Order: sequence, then structure tokens, then C-alpha cells
Amino acid sequence: MRNEKEIRDLFPLLDIKVNDRPLIYLDNAATTQKSKEVISEIEKFYSLENSNIHRGVHHLSQLSTDNFEKSRITVQNFINAEHNHEIIFTKGTTESINLLASCYREILKKDDEIIISEMEHHSNIVPWQICCQNTGAKLKIIPFDEHGNLDLETFKNLLNTNTKLVAITHISNSLGTINPIEEIIKLSHEKNAKVLIDGAQSAAHVKIDVQNLDADFYCFSAHKLFGPTGVGVLYGKEELLNLLPPYQGGGEMIKEVDFEKTTFAPLPFKFEAGTPNICGVVAFKKAIELIQRIGIDNIKEYEDKLLSYATEKLTKIGGLKIYGQAKLKSAIISFNIEGIHHYDLGLILDKMGIAIRTGHHCTQPVMKKFKIAGTARISFAYYNTFNEIDKCIDAIEKAKKMLL
Ligand code: ALA
Repeated sequence: MRNEKEIRDLFPLLDIKVNDRPLIYLDNAATTQKSKEVISEIEKFYSLENSNIHRGVHHLSQLSTDNFEKSRITVQNFINAEHNHEIIFTKGTTESINLLASCYREILKKDDEIIISEMEHHSNIVPWQICCQNTGAKLKIIPFDEHGNLDLETFKNLLNTNTKLVAITHISNSLGTINPIEEIIKLSHEKNAKVLIDGAQSAAHVKIDVQNLDADFYCFSAHKLFGPTGVGVLYGKEELLNLLPPYQGGGEMIKEVDFEKTTFAPLPFKFEAGTPNICGVVAFKKAIELIQRIGIDNIKEYEDKLLSYATEKLTKIGGLKIYGQAKLKSAIISFNIEGIHHYDLGLILDKMGIAIRTGHHCTQPVMKKFKIAGTARISFAYYNTFNEIDKCIDAIEKAKKMLL
């Protein structure tokens, strides 16, 4: 049973005022607030434990290394990976995708094909464009319909034996669509194509089981699930990661360096050159443990209720159009009000202490499809409340009166 006070008390920032009004934070798809446990872990790390990892025999180095590697096991269990060395720490989802794209740049050939979708975040478009430009491979796009559902029939036609990789978002950050990744993975594997799932918007909201999904690669960021910024994860199946060339060269990723030839460290270190965000990775464990304590199914159930409640209320506002009404949706709502620029709406809501995001949300192809420059977007986390939705709806009505 959700205890509202208990959950909100865990997040100190939710208690602040913005423009003399109690903050209502509805920009969780951009980043989530951090729990007290994450914040105190960061303080504890730098006050009592700070040292570099995998590099020393001294007490602090051992302690940091142990804590860093414990986080890897926590992530492994969180997404049910078979091995902990299948978890590569990066600085975020964007770097995870770029890591993979830079490896694929070394192995793709002319006439190979990569499939992405029309609803991808720019970070799951641009790395593949660069990859294709450098290799002569072709980039193919799965369209979506006016509700935000992927066109799976077109996807089936795009798939062929030249398809080397399908890179798809699990949940669209601008439309909220939950894509049928199980089916996408199955269809792709029938053609021997590998699949990368961009889980930036999903890891904090729906259950991830990479073995059950049979995902080849899966990536997400800590900061979207109550953890620190600057930490991301790339999961990859052991046999596939072993086949890929290294990403960055440097310390920690080598076995033996010689001017004639360098050999590389085993997984996961082969992909973790340089000193990582040690503190961030260590504190990330606390964020995952919170989600595990609450239960991801409870989070999903509650956020689904927030989504239905807010959608119903927003739909009653005259002139308001929601972009993205897919059958399966996460708690993200993009909308515009006729005659009002989304940016003006965002500014007025901010004056009332309400944080929403405005703009193209790094999905310009989505905006182009709807022939709009951008939208207002509200996105929920488990700590949001029905009362906050009521206040946001009142504020939108007030803003509408002021602006029209
Ligand atoms: N990708 C993040 C968002 O959708 C930043 O806001």
C-alpha cells in the first residue's frame, strides 16, 4: 500500500518552493529527483570512501572497488542479466548507444541495414546515421500511426537478411508509447538481426527482464530512476560483447600494452576505459534498491492511474490536443492548446511553481510528423500525486485564460 507521506519525504527537493509556490515537479521524463538515500550515499562516499577503483591494494581502493562492483550486481539483478560482466557502466543512455554505434562502425559493411523508428530520441538516431555514413550501411525507419503506435507491418517488410541491428525505444519520451519490444525482438531474431532497446524511459516504470525478452542490448540512465546523473548502463549478451571491438582506449581496458600490439581486458573492463563516475555508480545502487523495495509492478500500477486521471482531465480542456494515444502508454503526456505556444504555457506554469517540459523533446521527426514545432509535456514519477494533477489542470485553465 502506497504511503504518500513516506514516499514524498524520501525526496527532499519535492519540498522546495519555486516562485513562492510549492513545487509541483512534472518533468520526470527529463530527469527524476534523487532520494535521500542516494544523496547521503554520495556524501558518505566522498566523506569516507573516496578512492579510485581496480587500481590499488590499499584499504580505500578495495572498498571503492567492492562498492562499485556491488552496484554492478545490483544492476544485473534489476534487469535479470545472466552475468554481471554483461553490465557496462557508461555516462548515460546516450553514451551507451554511441558505444555500440562506434563498435558497429567497425563491423558493418556496405549494404548492411539498421532499422530504427520514427519515434526515436535523437540519441538513437544520430549515432546510427553517423555509423551508416561511415560504413555505407542503410538506415531504415519504422513509421508510427496518428495515435503513436508503431507500424509493425512495415517493420516486417523492412526486415531482411541484410538487417544487422534493430535499435528501438522501449517507451517514447515524447508520445509515451510502450512499444511491443517482445514481438520486435522475436521478429528481428527470425532474420538473425540483433536488437538494441533504448530503455531510457522504461527502466523506472516497467519491469525489465533482459533474458526473458531475449534482448541483445539494453541501455538506460541512472538519473531517470532516482539515481545520479552521469551514470548509464549498457547491457549486452556476453557472446555479442565479446565479438565487438573496444570502444575507447585507455587505462583499465587492457590486458597487455606493447608498442607492437595491445591486448584487451575481459568484460566488462574492455568497455570501461578511464576512471568512471565511481561515486555515481555506487549511489545508483540505492536508487535501484528503492525501486525494488516499492516493487516495479506497484510503480506501474500507480503511474497508470495517474496517467488515466490526468488524461481524462486534460481531455476536458477545450482546444487541448494530446499527441500520443497509443494502446499501451507510459505516464508521459504531450499536448498543445490551440492558439497557445507551448513555451508560453510552460513559462506561466513555472510562475505557479509547476515544472513541465516544452519543446521538441529531442524528437524532431515526431514533431515534423504532426507538423508542430513542439509540445508541452508532463511526465510522472511514483512520488507524484492526484492532488498535483488537479493543481496542474487548474493552472493550465488559468494560463489559458491569460493567453487567449
Ligand atoms: N530525453 C530526456 C527528455 O525526454 C531529456 O526530456
